[in-house]
Amino acid sequence: MTGNDTRFTDPIEEHRALLDTESRIAIAGHPLHAMLVAFPIALTLSVLGADLLYWWTADAFWTQVAGWAAFGAFLMGVIAGITGTVELLVVRGIRNRSASWTHFILAVMLLSLIGANWAFRIGQPEEAVLPLGLMLSFVAAGLTAVTGWHGGKLVFDYRIGTKPPDDLS
Ligand code: HEM
Repeated sequence: MTGNDTRFTDPIEEHRALLDTESRIAIAGHPLHAMLVAFPIALTLSVLGADLLYWWTADAFWTQVAGWAAFGAFLMGVIAGITGTVELLVVRGIRNRSASWTHFILAVMLLSLIGANWAFRIGQPEEAVLPLGLMLSFVAAGLTAVTGWHGGKLVFDYRIGTKPPDDLS
């Protein structure tokens, strides 16, 4: 941009190094974050399923399932979050894209919600379900869908975590 020229420029076009978005936290080029996120996604949806089954059957077994699934969702979510955060901080092309930070904010809100949904059930697995536990599970499932969809957008739309084609690197 020069003088009175007010056209916007694309920083990624000007700084080719920002095209480097390749995952570093990976095994043989396969990103660990992508492998790990399946666990919090599946377990968060399982908590909702178990809560609904408890509401339907009044069988306390489902409150045990929900409690353990909530614990697993939080634990695996934090581990997946750590791999994602290291990637975000270490890889220049990832941390320079605002979409990565949007995903981070969504994910931290989600992990707080999953953690609350687990902690709230400790010592009162049955009493916790109706209505607050079930409501937390619904919101957590919705936010999981949004965060997971947005993570996919990072990879498939912005090519974050992928290797740039040879002619661009
Ligand atoms: C807490 C901080 C988190 C950060 C900083 C983060 C960051 C990232 C980054 C940088 C990517 C691009 C791929 C890569 O480089 O590995 C990604 C992809 C993804 N993230 Fe996260 N993430 C976080 C947590 C989560 C959580 C809790 C979920 C669970 C819903 C999630 C779901 C996804 C999904 C589904 C993808 C696409 C994976 C693929 O299709 O390859 N992320 N994330």
